[in-house]
Amino acid sequence: MKNFVSAKDVNNIDALVQKALAFKADPFQQQALGKNKRIGCLFLNPSMRTRLSTQIAAQNLGMEALVFNVGNEGWMLEFEEEAIMSGSTVEHVKDAAPVFGKYFDILAIRTFPSLKNRDDDYSELYIKQFIKYAGIPVVSLESSTLHPLQSLTDIITITETFKEQRKPKIVLTWAPHVKPLPQCVANSFAQWVNAWGKADFVITHPEDYELDEQFTNGATITHDQEAALKDADFVYVKNWSTYKDYGKIYTNDPEWMLTQAKLSASRNAKVMHCLPVRRNVELSDEILDSPNSIVTQQAGNRVWAAQAVLSEILSAKK
Ligand code: CP
Repeated sequence: MKNFVSAKDVNNIDALVQKALAFKADPFQQQALGKNKRIGCLFLNPSMRTRLSTQIAAQNLGMEALVFNVGNEGWMLEFEEEAIMSGSTVEHVKDAAPVFGKYFDILAIRTFPSLKNRDDDYSELYIKQFIKYAGIPVVSLESSTLHPLQSLTDIITITETFKEQRKPKIVLTWAPHVKPLPQCVANSFAQWVNAWGKADFVITHPEDYELDEQFTNGATITHDQEAALKDADFVYVKNWSTYKDYGKIYTNDPEWMLTQAKLSASRNAKVMHCLPVRRNVELSDEILDSPNSIVTQQAGNRVWAAQAVLSEILSAKK
């Protein structure tokens, strides 16, 4: 594996999942692999789980992890080619990224979308420019359209939880939120579940919340949440803003919040969320505090997903 920014960077999702689960069983088995290697974790936006799990994963492999909060503490970066930098940006990525390439063996980056211009966000300019100019492997810690470490974690969590000899039914359901959020987690979850190909996959959301078909193709899509939840084994709850009329909130209908009563038609479904979650807006207390919720298990698995990916990249570099 050279870079990790999408499900398309993975040849065999199941093999990567098994590698992650092997690290969960024995975290320090590859302590020598990252010896004298350094990962730079660049944050243009806030994070708790991604930041900490990536550092722990690197340390488990014997790597040193340095975190740089570019968004708060660094020079404001310019990403457009041939920009006349007479505004607020101080340094071009073309100049900064090669410096990161000298300091680190792997570069990991979190950048959120603006939610103002769909074409700009979906061009993934930021992460592509880092790949173009850093000269070292690049790992996405969440980009404008995708969150691949989260989605790998989600498949790991489903794999270790579901023990029946049949395909699980997985439902991705839209939930209300107080502000417009990116489509990244939903796009990415859809991309990974479809690429994995081992589930009956249903996406349910209100009208006009359709996601980009390049990610959802292969899933059944319905506006009927009650019908979608019938016989579900896993329910993934997530808000996203509108994709077509980009970055808007059309409805915040509280009827879309997942409650215990709505799970009654499911197969005692396990409930997932990437966190952070708005309690009693997206998900009720009664679910989050019940045995149905596996959100903490899921967040814990972020370490093993990151460790499997870093291990693959380090092994490929040897
Ligand atoms: N799920 C997730 O990415 O969490 P953080 O934003 O806290 O990193």
